[in-house]
Amino acid sequence: MYPQFPPGFRFGMSTSAYQIEGAADADGKKPSIWDTFTARPGTVRHGEHARVAIDHYHRYAEDVRHIAEAGVHDYRFSFSWPRVQSGTGFYDRLVDTILAAGVRPVPTIYHWDLPQELEDAGGWMNRDTAQRLADYTAMLVERLGDRVRDWITLNEMSVHTLYGYALTDHAPGRGLGLGALPAAHHQLLAHGLAVQVLRAGGARSVGVANQHFPVLPAGDDPDDVAAAGLFADLTNWTFADPILRGEYPNELVVAGIGVDGAQLARDLEVIRAPLDFYGVNYYEPTMIEAPRAGKDYAGVLEVDIPDGLPFSPVPVKAERTDFGWAIVPSGLTGILTTLRDRYPHLPPVVITENGASFHDAGPGPDGRVHDPRRIAFLDAHLRAVADAIEAGVRVDGYYVWSAIDNFEWAAGYDERFGLVHVDRETLARTRKDSWYWYRDLIAAQTRS
Ligand code: FCB
Repeated sequence: MYPQFPPGFRFGMSTSAYQIEGAADADGKKPSIWDTFTARPGTVRHGEHARVAIDHYHRYAEDVRHIAEAGVHDYRFSFSWPRVQSGTGFYDRLVDTILAAGVRPVPTIYHWDLPQELEDAGGWMNRDTAQRLADYTAMLVERLGDRVRDWITLNEMSVHTLYGYALTDHAPGRGLGLGALPAAHHQLLAHGLAVQVLRAGGARSVGVANQHFPVLPAGDDPDDVAAAGLFADLTNWTFADPILRGEYPNELVVAGIGVDGAQLARDLEVIRAPLDFYGVNYYEPTMIEAPRAGKDYAGVLEVDIPDGLPFSPVPVKAERTDFGWAIVPSGLTGILTTLRDRYPHLPPVVITENGASFHDAGPGPDGRVHDPRRIAFLDAHLRAVADAIEAGVRVDGYYVWSAIDNFEWAAGYDERFGLVHVDRETLARTRKDSWYWYRDLIAAQTRS
């Protein structure tokens, strides 16, 4: 059995708008960068797109039932910025349905689907996009703030910067290398400005969702240790240090973001505004070595890192999910204690995403979807959270990624993270064994 989680611990599930909604043109919605990106040949596995996705836009009432009947306390979803530009009707209905089901909505304001028209004006490389996000936040607060009280600003600014702006794997696919660092700063500034708007609008709680993971040096060689340190700065600390201690981790990053002096100091004051919770998305650790002369790194990882950088990701030795991600539950305990040690003022943590893709077959003759490996994954990671709590880290909640199978960005629909299975032909939903397991766990934890 599990260690008992603290009283008031909040179990939840997560999704994001672009990955589930579909209805690409409903309500006069204009394209996001992901609509543009997926329309370009060669960007997504099997040429898949999300114009229909899992049709959550039309099937949201059923989906909310699957979420609520598991007994979760919180449901984290996201708003589609381009959809909101033409009205909040869909989200009015969605929020009302979530509340009527007895679940707390904890929406993310921005989960990667930037309106294409803003990308055309420079996207996150343009400082003005931060102010535009603040204006969009004000619109959400005005229309939904009477019912939505708990907010997450941005999702995984690091992954958006790295895959979308430094590399070409995600929208908008810019491939700027280290030249992408201004996109990091502008998202952080957007986060800080959004916090101001949410505070002024009377929010009950405000947080952010950052992806974090331990960065392990491949060996004791000082070059490997230095390479791992730099990689950790660029992926973990560039996005946490400004928020949690008002500074960037090193001079290379400061030079790269291209803002200095008094302006930088003013921006950091905005970015470091206190939060009510700090969201951590955890999937797997990364192992880094200093590049070995003559070694060919092509194909070593799922994304190709350009040559000439001072670090090379190498595979961690561990069992893997069907997506090829290393299964290392202790990495979650590790990153939580690292965050606690690094930030004396760390707010309570919520695990805003954790989960695994296994290529589950649809319902068999017994009508069930058996996903024992997902259950084992979630079980081990919840124990890892309990270990961190035991070690003195304050963790207030845990959300599974994801409530339901969905569009896994450049990997398309093969990667299934859901507790609920979706048939790709009929879009029929079937609760997986992991859904029942999670329901029973929540019931047991909440009863005692
Ligand atoms: C995270 C994203 C989320 C989902 C999971 C698997 O990086 O925030 O949208 O794709 O990975």
